[in-house]
Amino acid sequence: MITADMPVRIGSRMCKNRITMAPTVKFCAGDDGIATDFFARHYGLRAKHGCGFICVEATAVSPEGRLFPSQIGLWNDEQIEGHRKIAQACHACGALAVPQLHYGGLGTHPACGPLTSPTAVMWHDGDREVMAKELTVPEIRRIEQCFIDAAVRAKAAGYDGVQLHGCHSYLINDFASAVNRRTDAYGGSTQNRARFGCEIISGIREACGKDFIISVRVSGCDPTVEESIGIAEHYVKAGCDYLQVSCGIQDTKDLPHDDSLPYNRIAGLGVIFHEHFKGVVPVSLVNGIRTPEQVKYLLENELIDTVDIACGLLADPAFSEAILNGSPYVKCFGCRRCGWGPGHDHICPALKIRRNEEWEF
Ligand SMILES: Cc1cc2nc3c(=O)[nH]c(=O)nc-3n(C[C@H](O)[C@H](O)[C@H](O)COP(=O)(O)O)c2cc1C
Repeated sequence: MITADMPVRIGSRMCKNRITMAPTVKFCAGDDGIATDFFARHYGLRAKHGCGFICVEATAVSPEGRLFPSQIGLWNDEQIEGHRKIAQACHACGALAVPQLHYGGLGTHPACGPLTSPTAVMWHDGDREVMAKELTVPEIRRIEQCFIDAAVRAKAAGYDGVQLHGCHSYLINDFASAVNRRTDAYGGSTQNRARFGCEIISGIREACGKDFIISVRVSGCDPTVEESIGIAEHYVKAGCDYLQVSCGIQDTKDLPHDDSLPYNRIAGLGVIFHEHFKGVVPVSLVNGIRTPEQVKYLLENELIDTVDIACGLLADPAFSEAILNGSPYVKCFGCRRCGWGPGHDHICPALKIRRNEEWEF
């Protein structure tokens, strides 16, 4: 039987337990994309209170691909120092730490650059419809190199690896999804739609070595669950050593799911992936995990290797301790105010309940 306090191997590293912090953007950097000391305190606090693996929020690999102008980045060397402080703060508490490398694609903010896509498609940008720009092969290669260079900077900052943002309609997900109607080597079969992600993975592996964790946050249902598994198999062959499953462009509401289960449809995608990739790479799930009982159910029934938590850890930085030791916690209200940025820590009503000197920023 697996319990939350059991270590798990991720790539060549050991993670001390099964609780992982899912990436959550704060949108409180300047236009320079530098992570200020706030970020080291924010992530260090979650690490201090027991979280074993911290995935630092979507971090832009190139300024024109940002999802918001105040997003943090790793597109130049000046940005390394802020990340070094985050990595150190997490390591000081025994947690592994990786940044989530991100390029907007169809989710690019218009103030940062054009919406880009494998294929020219009409896309919604707020209430406007916009024609996304189709990327040429040299542009694709340049963006791949941006991911690889950002991973090299992540390694220089002292991180244990990187996570690639391959879900939620951003560029790696766009290539894998049905939006991609290319007829060249980057479109068509699952192998071709996975090519963009695979070239990034193998480039990072070559540049950063075998001990560097490469996780991919994949969509579990783009365009179908079976095809997503096929895409993920290519990522694993290319060198991905951890799959963290979320959703993507495809609507999830029609996915078959037994509503009596203590986890939702999106988390259920992780359970399906875990069944498929058992013994190959560890798999994580996310979405709607709000109580220690849910985590216990998923791990004790060996439905998953690790559990990613976003809002639960924004609402209570010590939620991991509640899972590990049964200590009291404040449950996320589900109000979604954290999505309004900037900063989060000032607007989460649950966090205010337990706010003390240590938690006051
Ligand atoms: C404020 C906020 C910021 C988020 N930022 C990111 C992000 O940077 N990258 C990402 O892949 N997902 C992001 N997400 C999605 C979460 O990682 C997670 O998948 C989602 O919140 C569901 O998990 P939960 O129910 O534990 O909150 C964000 C979610 C929230 C609420």
